Amino acid sequence: MSETHPPICDYEHSDYQKRFWERGGREYEDRVEAVALQRLLPTDGERLLEVGAGAGRNTLRYVGFRQVVLLDYSRTQLGQAQARLGSGERYLYVIGDVYQLPFAPGIFDASTMIRTLHHMADPLAALQQVRSTLSSGAVFVIEYANKQNLKAIARWIFRRQEWNPFGQEPIEYVPLNFNFHPAAVRGWLEATGFDIIRQLTVSHFRLNLLKRLTPLKLLVALDSLAQWSGNWWQLTPSVFVRAEAVGDGEHAPEGAFWRCPACGSFELKTVDIGLRCAGCQRVWQLKDGIYDFKEPLEGN
Ligand SMILES: C[S@@+](CC[C@H](N)C(=O)[O-])C[C@H]1O[C@@H](n2cnc3c(N)ncnc32)[C@H](O)[C@@H]1O
Repeated sequence: MSETHPPICDYEHSDYQKRFWERGGREYEDRVEAVALQRLLPTDGERLLEVGAGAGRNTLRYVGFRQVVLLDYSRTQLGQAQARLGSGERYLYVIGDVYQLPFAPGIFDASTMIRTLHHMADPLAALQQVRSTLSSGAVFVIEYANKQNLKAIARWIFRRQEWNPFGQEPIEYVPLNFNFHPAAVRGWLEATGFDIIRQLTVSHFRLNLLKRLTPLKLLVALDSLAQWSGNWWQLTPSVFVRAEAVGDGEHAPEGAFWRCPACGSFELKTVDIGLRCAGCQRVWQLKDGIYDFKEPLEGN
């Protein structure tokens, strides 16, 4: 990895799925995210790339796609996803870095990136990579953490917080966790070759007291209704965007699927332990059903 590579928020050996979702009292957030995803995703398609798939919390929601490629920087997160979803033709597990995606241009007709942009120190570079893997007209559903949320605005007004929620610069509230301004995210999407089709605001009622006192079903129903205001204003902690890839991207040789993240070659040949790159001779291993584009065996 070069010295200028943005730092990565490493989830290796993290119990994120259990701690944050299963034991963290976040059923409300999970349910309203499912609603937003269902509203924004096409009902069917050929091949979807899930960027930052983690333990596969959302993967079963991509029902109409023939194949789902789960991409994550962490082997242990993908291991958990594999335990949840199983092996088989429909799912492909790939360890890789969003800043250097190991895929040929234009091979996906849809992509999602949920709760992952907020770890990007260089969001523009990450979005450029995602765009390059998408065909023209492909749908991209992205979620981001919104710095211009009501809680942050109130804290700023009452001088409980120094940073201005209306400023367009990212705010790094803990190392490698960023909240972004909606206008900044829209600008990055447009600059990287996306049209914005629809915005949904999500998690309007993310307050522990409210979550404790209100029946879950009611809270989810109210949030589902309020989500539709997302095109007019964005004041929730989480925002979902449906964008579409526009314009022609780079062209790959017929039938290419992989692209070597180290040298850019499209010639990756299947060998008994994985894929050998004809360009740089690196071998990217396939181990326990998971392709590893992080730690190559050097070629000879
Ligand atoms: C907060 S988790 C979200 C997981 C899942 N999308 C969800 O919503 O449950 C963020 C995920 O992004 C992955 N990630 C962070 N930086 C990455 C990078 N540079 N390339 C690929 N994945 C990355 C982490 O390994 C982690 O699994």
